Amino acid sequence: MGNSELLASLQASFIGRDTEYPTVGGSRGPRVYLDSAASTLMLAPAYQVGHEFLQHYASTHSDLHYAARGASQAFHWAHEKVLEFVDADPEVYCAFFAGSGATAGFNRMAASLAETRPEREVVLVSEMEHHSNDLPHRHHFESVVHIPCLGEFERYGALNMERLRLLIEEHNHKINYIAVTGASNVSGAITPLAEVASLAHQVGAYLIVDASQMIAHAPVSMNDADIDVLVFSGHKIYAPGSPGVVIARREVLNRIAPCELGGGMVDDVYLEQYMTTATLPDREEAGTPNIVGAITLGAVLDLLNRIGMDKVREKEIDLINHAWQGLSSIDGVTLYGPDPADIPRTGTIAFNIKGFDHGLTAAALNDYHNIQVRNGCFCAHPYVRELLKKEMWEMDIDLDAPDADDQIERKRGMARASLGLYTTRDDIDALIDAVRDLAGRREEILATYEPVGRNGYRHTKFSPAPQDLFDPERTLANYIAAEG
Ligand SMILES: Cc1ncc(COP(=O)(O)O)c(C=O)c1O
Repeated sequence: MGNSELLASLQASFIGRDTEYPTVGGSRGPRVYLDSAASTLMLAPAYQVGHEFLQHYASTHSDLHYAARGASQAFHWAHEKVLEFVDADPEVYCAFFAGSGATAGFNRMAASLAETRPEREVVLVSEMEHHSNDLPHRHHFESVVHIPCLGEFERYGALNMERLRLLIEEHNHKINYIAVTGASNVSGAITPLAEVASLAHQVGAYLIVDASQMIAHAPVSMNDADIDVLVFSGHKIYAPGSPGVVIARREVLNRIAPCELGGGMVDDVYLEQYMTTATLPDREEAGTPNIVGAITLGAVLDLLNRIGMDKVREKEIDLINHAWQGLSSIDGVTLYGPDPADIPRTGTIAFNIKGFDHGLTAAALNDYHNIQVRNGCFCAHPYVRELLKKEMWEMDIDLDAPDADDQIERKRGMARASLGLYTTRDDIDALIDAVRDLAGRREEILATYEPVGRNGYRHTKFSPAPQDLFDPERTLANYIAAEG
């Protein structure tokens, strides 16, 4: 099978891509899943690899029965696939799995580096960061300085390199590391990582990259960009249920003490003392690992490597441009973040429709058009606040009303459509048509919804319970009934 055929076959293989849901009016059809920035769908052949591994399931860390030996080997293979995928020389870098997402990796690195280099008490973090790549640094360091972005109001985004240079000059050898996202989870704006690495290294600071929103969308080369630490979540790259991933220079890991202690990371333990192992990644992976998740993720990375991330990126750029042009041509629609013609972006497009709260947009896209998008501030409150600065001033909120806080919450945010390998031009066209439809019948839509909570909306006549769609109890009952 050639690359293009493999790509086409993988695109068609995602589990849940065509799951059918009901819509207002009684029809039922396959969903359009545009919530990949939160979590991607599962790539079926990779799931199959994990499933097959279960036939041989055993824990790792033993070589003496077939299954344990196989598990250890396959777990090791997953680490190799990670390194290969981000072009990290295994002599220089080591990959380890941590927690259930990227958050564990940031907490781990922040705690360790604060302890290892206490004389460097400043961390530089961009204003675009997800809270996961901001709050752990705030927690462990004396001072976190936020790097501003380019542009203003709804076009705010992409690192301001000039301001970064000035901050580096100002804080110089006090900087422990610079932590930036590879691509924003709000606007998709891509950071020039090699340039940031070069500036960081001039003052002996490390570069930590949050690749959560980049890993499934663009090629990443740790070798070329000279990145010290890269962190991402497996569930953002077609392996839901897989662990968080950290790839770090061995030289960095050799300097830090392990944060988590327990089985698998010690050479020997006495009542009086214990000796941690020098072997990486074992030292960083205390406890029984998520072996199935890691192997599934390894399989995804292997398959994507065969296709080539350049090709994946090329396909996505086409869809981003199409979506940007289509959505921006609709009256009353605001798109956020830099224009893709000015700054490269991944397939994440945040938007608002005039007269619609973000929750209403997301609910109506779901209920009327079977399109699944996310809404809110996407755990990037400072960035979203900046993007909405002008609009919030102009919004008609009665600050004396008893529900003023709720009103603000309902307005403070956006809807976000985000792409995956399974996204087609038809999906983007469906989104553009749906947004145009909603924008054109605002009064009618408003009349059919009531606000719930601080940022939700519920259709007054159409509201299937989640259990009608999927219910673990029903699945179990069906199994038991079938078994007789
Ligand atoms: C840019 C970015 N960083 C970090 C995270 C945190 O990932 P996780 O929740 O898997 O730890 C997310 C999740 O949405 C994200 O989009």
